[in-house]
Amino acid sequence: MTPRRRIQVWDVVVRLLHWALAVLVAVDLLRDDGDRAHRLVGYAAVVVVLLRLGWAAVVRSHGSLAGLRPSVSQSWVYLRLVMRGQPPRSLGHNPLGLWMVWLLWILVLLLGVTGWMSRLDAFWGDDRVHDAHALLADMMLIAVILHLAGVAMMSWLWRENLPASMITGYKRPLR
Ligand code: HEM
Ligand code: HEM
Repeated sequence: MTPRRRIQVWDVVVRLLHWALAVLVAVDLLRDDGDRAHRLVGYAAVVVVLLRLGWAAVVRSHGSLAGLRPSVSQSWVYLRLVMRGQPPRSLGHNPLGLWMVWLLWILVLLLGVTGWMSRLDAFWGDDRVHDAHALLADMMLIAVILHLAGVAMMSWLWRENLPASMITGYKRPLR
């Protein structure tokens, strides 16, 4: 019997940073009183995103900046194929999933900035920054739900366990 071939797609740094980010964001969404722990966890999430972007700049794999460049035209083509229920498998992020990846990262960075600003004397008594932080947190929750739905849908369409690939780092080859 020939052993099933597997290809390493996500290196250990990408995987560790993904699960660290998932835990930190989940903790801050649940523990949302803005206390010291909330603030430290939030800043840690920002650091994780910056580390991930730094890693993308130096690594040469599916997690590199080249693999993170979104394309509007490719996304339209891919969306049409998803609607027909036949999107081709991709080893790295698929063109549509890539938009969600950037949205999640940008939301974490904006939450960090608005969280920091909300504590500045300059905004004392001004609810706007706090309201923006709360709105971004709501958007984050929705984005995370859509991310999980996207992962579940693509796992089903591709008959491939994507969460497992984010744990082991491996996917099966394209053909
Ligand atoms: C708050 C929770 C979460 C956040 C903020 C989050 C965020 C992200 C981000 C930013 C990426 C891109 C990874 C990279 O290129 O470095 C990603 C990918 C991924 N995430 Fe999550 N994630 C969360 C929870 C989860 C959970 C619970 C699962 C599994 C059930 C999961 C499964 C995946 C998978 C499979 C990918 C790769 C998708 C692909 O193959 O293109 N995520 N996630
Ligand atoms: C992943 C990052 C973060 C998430 C998901 C997050 C989420 C939240 C949520 C859901 C709330 C409750 C908003 C409401 O009133 O409805 C909140 C409040 C707050 N957050 Fe964050 N946050 C993050 C990062 C930060 C950071 C880095 C700081 C840094 C100072 C911060 C400071 C605060 C403060 C001061 C409040 C106000 C608490 C109050 O109502 O008095 N957050 N955050």
